[in-house]
Amino acid sequence: MASPNDLFDAARTASGKSYSPYSKFPVGAAILAADGAIYTGANVENLAYPEGICAEGVAIGQMVMGGTTSIKAVAVYAPRLALCPPCGGCRQKLAEFSDAGTEVYLCDDTGVRETVTVGALLPHAFETENIG
Ligand code: THU
Repeated sequence: MASPNDLFDAARTASGKSYSPYSKFPVGAAILAADGAIYTGANVENLAYPEGICAEGVAIGQMVMGGTTSIKAVAVYAPRLALCPPCGGCRQKLAEFSDAGTEVYLCDDTGVRETVTVGALLPHAFETENIG
């Protein structure tokens, strides 16, 4: 079973693959999924700025394509920021595949610095049984 520190290591490695020539702000994310695998992502920017994708979204895409849709924990690391809490859109994306208690590890250069939950990051989330 991957530890929080394993997820930090994976997120840091992933940040090295960031394509962020516009912001010059690399981000890495690492998801521990229900299948026990770690899925990683880095932000991938675009000259048409709104088309860029966050690290968390890339990691979620990797997880889904790996055949799993349940997040057990996630680490986020941005070398240029002490802590990089997921943006609002990524909170909604993470919530889709998490429980309120799913842990989010906010990392600095030394490792996990703060642990929060998806529920704390996205209180009063948009959830409904009535769609579809
Ligand atoms: N970014 C992420 O990858 N994840 C976040 O949660 C926050 C922001 C990226 C998007 C953009 O490429 C860069 O950081 C600067 O906003």
